[in-house]
Parts: sequence; structure tokens; C-alpha cells
Amino acid sequence: MSSPAIRDKTILVTGGAGFIGSHLVETLAPHNEVRVLDDFSSGRRASLPEPVDVYEGDVCDPILLQRAAHGVDLIFHQAAMVSVDESVDAPRRSNRTNVDAGLLVLEQARQEDARVVVASSAAIYGHPEALPVPETAATEPASPYGIQKLALDQYARRYEELYDLPTVTLRYFNVYGPRQQGPYSGVISTFLEQARADDPITIEGDGKQTRDFVHVDDVVRANLAAATTDEVGTAYNIGTGERTSIDELAETIRSATKSSSPIVHHEPRPGDVRHSGADVSRARRRLGFEPRVSLESGVRSLVADGESTATSAVSWETGTHG
Ligand code: UD1
Repeated sequence: MSSPAIRDKTILVTGGAGFIGSHLVETLAPHNEVRVLDDFSSGRRASLPEPVDVYEGDVCDPILLQRAAHGVDLIFHQAAMVSVDESVDAPRRSNRTNVDAGLLVLEQARQEDARVVVASSAAIYGHPEALPVPETAATEPASPYGIQKLALDQYARRYEELYDLPTVTLRYFNVYGPRQQGPYSGVISTFLEQARADDPITIEGDGKQTRDFVHVDDVVRANLAAATTDEVGTAYNIGTGERTSIDELAETIRSATKSSSPIVHHEPRPGDVRHSGADVSRARRRLGFEPRVSLESGVRSLVADGESTATSAVSWETGTHG
């Protein structure tokens, strides 16, 4: 897929300092007026390039959202509580961020007549009956997180039907890449950290569960395509179509880092999905989406980046709107 150019637009990225949001901002900022709304609860200022306008605060604050979205052409709604585990611990808190905020963003977009690209999730499928899972599969989420993303996913599609708002919904599978970090980040960043420190690599459950790991660069390309497609009001799976077991992943990371970490097994995670893998044919056909980064090369480049982390700690001056 050649990335469609987005130029000279006014764009809001909610969660723009976070893992996926900051990669989008980095790609868009040189050619557009980009605004970031983020409370920096997990995102970092150092992840933001220049020039971007920062609106710091809660995405559920309607006044702040109104200011940040004023006059925009396009909104990438990336703000979320991304951890399935955390949603099990705090379902109401994650509902607020994952559902209430999404609804506010959609309402605001109606005011501005702006397109919205929404971050949904493979978690909406729960335990899929057949793999790879197409967009038409049954949705039986296994966690509060999945329930919340399903509500957001449906709201976005219904807003297109009911109010003629151009929305596109991207159902991310397991996204990984640079700047994924923190206590609730994905398994690849956790295993890399453990392997680098020669600490035990902690597999939850028997390690036979599988995931479809998609690199953040591919996810950014999918977002750019979603921002320009005529096929609105639709949901698209964004993954690679390849499944990897958590056992295999642990071995891949141990060997890529040349670590001597032992692999240990813990209790499985409550609400954990057993197998997850995307059928990406709809995104291929209608968005021209083609995943380019294999898991091996993605992990290899993360390991290489980690060996020169000094270069990623660049801090930029950014304008801030409180
Ligand atoms: C992830 C995303 C979620 C996304 C979903 C889509 C994160 C934090 N969560 O959830 O936002 O919507 O994919 O498919 O990126 N595991 C271990 N040891 C660890 C950590 C995890 O064995 O130290 C296992 C988990 O039990 C799970 C698998 O690895 O079976 C993946 O876990 P995780 O990276 O947290 O992602 P998901 O729960 O799949």
C-alpha cells in the first residue's frame, strides 16, 4: 500500500502522546496542523514532534474537547485505556475512557463536520469460533475492555448511518512497536524488558494462546488510508493474518536479545482470549492495506533500537493549551 498523502489539514489526535497516537502525529505533523489532546497518564511529551499544539487534560472534558476540535477536518480517536487486565480491575473507569469519551468525540465531530477514524479492537470478537476472524464474525467480548470497544465500534458505524458523519472503524489486533511501554503495555514490550534485564520471561497460562502481532508502522498506514477512503461507515480488521503463540514469541525475543532469561509460567489471565488472528481481506480490498512488517523484522528492529535508546530520548518543545 502506498500511503495516501494527507496534507494541509487541521487534525486532532486524541491520545496523541500515547503509543499509537504519537506515531500518527509524527507522520502527520510535517504536512498538517496537528493538535494533540492527551492527559499524559500514559503518553509522554517526549514522544511528540514539533510542531504540534498540545491540549492537556481529560478527553472526557467537553470544554477542552470542544476547543481542541474547533475547526478540524479530521479526528483520529486513539485515546483509550488499552489494557484488558486493567479493564477487569476497573470496569467503570475504563468504560468512561473507552466509551464516554468516544461518544463525546463523535458528538464533537458532528459539530465540526469532521471525519472520525476510531480505534476499535479485536477484543470485540471474544473467543472467535473460526480463524482467521472476518469482520462479519459474531461479537461476544470476553472482557469489559472488549465490551467497551464494541460499544464504540457500533456507535461510530451508527453515527455514519444516523447522522451522515463520515466514520471509519479500525479493529486493531495486537499492535507493537517503539514507544510501547508501561505496566499495562503489550506482551512484546514486557518480554523485551524482561529479556534485556535477564529477568524471567513471564508467560501467563500455558503459552499456547496465539495472537496476530501487527507493527505500529502498518497501523499508521491503515489510519492514513482510513482518513481518505470513500468506504466510510465500515469496520476493518487491522492485523497481519499470521498467528504466533506466546511460547514462540518468548523464544523469538530470547534469541533476538541473546538473553539468558528463564521462561516461567504463571496463572492464566482472567478473561484472556485463547486465539486471535485477523482476516484482513476487507482492508486489503477496500483500503489497499498491506501489512509490510513481519514479526521477526519488527522484533529485530526493536532490539536494535533498544541498543541505542539514547537516541529515542529526544525531547521537543511544544505549545501547550491547558
Ligand atoms: C491487546 C491489547 C488490546 C487490544 C488487543 C487486541 C495491549 C496492552 N492490549 O490485548 O488493547 O485491543 O490486544 O487483540 O496492547 N501475556 C503473558 N505475559 C505477560 C503479558 C502478557 O503471557 O507478561 C499474555 C497474555 O496473557 C495474553 C497475551 O500475552 O494471552 C497478549 O497479552 P497483551 O499483550 O496484554 O494483549 P491482549 O490482552 O491480547
